[in-house]
Amino acid sequence: MKLAVLSRAPRSYSTQRLVAAASERGHDARILDTLRFAIDLSGDVPDLQYRGRQLDDFDAVLPRIGASITFFGLAVVRQFEQMDVYTPTPSNGIANSRDKLRSIQILSRHDVAIPATTFVRDRADVLPAIDRVGGAPVVIKLLEGTQGIGVILAPDTKIAEAVIETLQSTRQNVLIQRFVAESRGRDVRALVVGDRVVAAMRRQASGDEFRSNVHRGGSVEAIDLDPVYADTAVRAAQIMGLRVAGVDMLEGAEGPVVMEVNSSPGFEGIERATGLDIAGAITDYVAAQVAFPEIDVRQRLSVSAGYGVVELSINEGAALVAAGTTIGELREQDISVLTLNRNTTVIPNPQSDRVIEVDDRLLCFGNLEAMRGLVPERRRNRLRVQPLHDEPLLEERR
Ligand SMILES: Nc1ncnc2c1ncn2[C@@H]1O[C@H](COP(=O)(O)OP(=O)(O)O)[C@@H](O)[C@H]1O
Ligand SMILES: [Mg+2]
Repeated sequence: MKLAVLSRAPRSYSTQRLVAAASERGHDARILDTLRFAIDLSGDVPDLQYRGRQLDDFDAVLPRIGASITFFGLAVVRQFEQMDVYTPTPSNGIANSRDKLRSIQILSRHDVAIPATTFVRDRADVLPAIDRVGGAPVVIKLLEGTQGIGVILAPDTKIAEAVIETLQSTRQNVLIQRFVAESRGRDVRALVVGDRVVAAMRRQASGDEFRSNVHRGGSVEAIDLDPVYADTAVRAAQIMGLRVAGVDMLEGAEGPVVMEVNSSPGFEGIERATGLDIAGAITDYVAAQVAFPEIDVRQRLSVSAGYGVVELSINEGAALVAAGTTIGELREQDISVLTLNRNTTVIPNPQSDRVIEVDDRLLCFGNLEAMRGLVPERRRNRLRVQPLHDEPLLEERR
């Protein structure tokens, strides 16, 4: 395949490793400077110019977008998507993961543990917010910090209030988070590629520091990841809309607590700690996807007016249940059930003779009117379009 690696740092370890891994496997990999693209919307089809010239055809793109160029970088990745170039880290996924509040909001509706977190604006709401996450000590975070900068542990309420007030006075948005003390300065980084964790390490903060970031002096060691942690990491990446991600988890009293999902994880620390070939795993995964690409359903379906993807929650008293309706009978009403969620099991492509039960959740594609007719009037707020990657309607500019 012909692979574009978007990077502003052609000599950085991760970029070099990706190119080397791709070349070893007989692929043609090029490093392209993210900021030298021109997004061209003047012709009949979406296009990209690179360094003033028409961009070659690429099969896949691996974006490594630094925080400082998020806005332009996302626009470039989005343009590759419009041109049907495969990427394991789509622009929505990168945008979701960039902002600590947005990512935690998206994770919060799913069955993945996150640290108790609040976000407030008014001074009067700060004290109740601190209480709500369990009281001091609390962690205070800037929404877009990296490398541990902008993450503060406030030992008592007075200091917490003062820190929040100071940051807000400089127009910075901060979130207030429960301090997961039992993790004791440790956390786990799992590198997810596709549906599995390809490498994992534990990071330990140095001395009395609570932040485990390597940039803050943290040390790393390879670990055999507990399957519960591996499952959580894969789920978190999937929820964010990322097929390649570095998922950071605290070791909570009741298991993994997802703190962060990184869309451009560095490989140096984790390859050195584990001796594993992460760049190779990513390249192999991307090559397999290029041969059989997934489709962003939302973009393809919006053109068929009157049809959509909807999640139906089957409540007690639903006529469907009383009538013993089957999946096959729904199909006759122009509704295809893509996935059936029953208790904790997920049944993809359920068989047509399967009977619908109370508390089932059906992810359906079909005629919107027909689906609307299936839910009683007062329950209609439970009929909602399932956002596939939880994309916000408007990009918030700060
Ligand atoms: N709620 C928390 N409880 C305990 N430790 C935390 C918490 N949040 C962050 N940390 C520690 O601080 C480090 C940096 O926080 P993180 O949110 O990952 O910010 P950054 O994006 O700057 O790395 C984490 O790796 C972890 O060691
Ligand atoms: Mg981090």
